[in-house]
Amino acid sequence: MTMDPSTTPLVVARLQRYGEAELREIFGDDSDPFGVASTGLTWLPKEVHFGIRRHGRLLAHTGLLKAPISVGDHTTDVVGFGGVAVAPEWRGRGLARLVVTAALEHARTMGPRHGLLFCRPPLVALYERLGWRTLPEQVRVEQPRGPVIMPLRTMWTPLRADAPWPTGPVRLRSLPF
Ligand SMILES: CC(C)(COP(=O)(O)OP(=O)(O)OC[C@H]1O[C@@H](n2cnc3c(N)ncnc32)[C@H](O)[C@@H]1OP(=O)(O)O)[C@@H](O)C(=O)NCCC(=O)NCCS
Repeated sequence: MTMDPSTTPLVVARLQRYGEAELREIFGDDSDPFGVASTGLTWLPKEVHFGIRRHGRLLAHTGLLKAPISVGDHTTDVVGFGGVAVAPEWRGRGLARLVVTAALEHARTMGPRHGLLFCRPPLVALYERLGWRTLPEQVRVEQPRGPVIMPLRTMWTPLRADAPWPTGPVRLRSLPF
């Protein structure tokens, strides 16, 4: 992990709220900070939020929620990860690793056996570096007008020892996150 030694240690904390104002604190006025507007997808807000603040300003965020999923005939829950964000001028210093790792620790207490996230193809290598694996199957996700095939990459990570990804067609029973 690359940290800037000239700064005080950066600490991850649970956030009491995460809305438009907090998103703007991280990204400024960027109208498509996650680069996914062209997909036209509708996303779920997250329920639990972790962030890194420095001198009061929010620099990084990861959100979590529990979401229902079917894999083959089996229906269960995953912990969905989303809104992974680092302020542009703070990237490349390990903040995403810090905040995703803290969110993962919390996810392990939430019950489901797997974490799931959706990302643009250029970010697959970054998440692999953080221990996530690509799900090669197509994933159907809910949208307001009915299910669609997720156009982004789907990645998963075990939340317990010995939790391989089950086999079978994957269908998220909620909007994506
Ligand atoms: C994606 C994003 C969160 C990454 O934040 P970051 O703070 O720069 O990431 P980190 O510095 O913590 O890097 C995490 C790890 O990935 C590695 N990494 C970064 N870019 C990589 C790449 N292109 N290929 C492989 N590994 C990469 C880093 O070296 C680091 O590994 P290390 O800790 O073992 O050295 C940030 O660029 C961002 O906010 N982008 C816009 C919003 C977005 O697209 N979010 C993703 C939603 S899914």
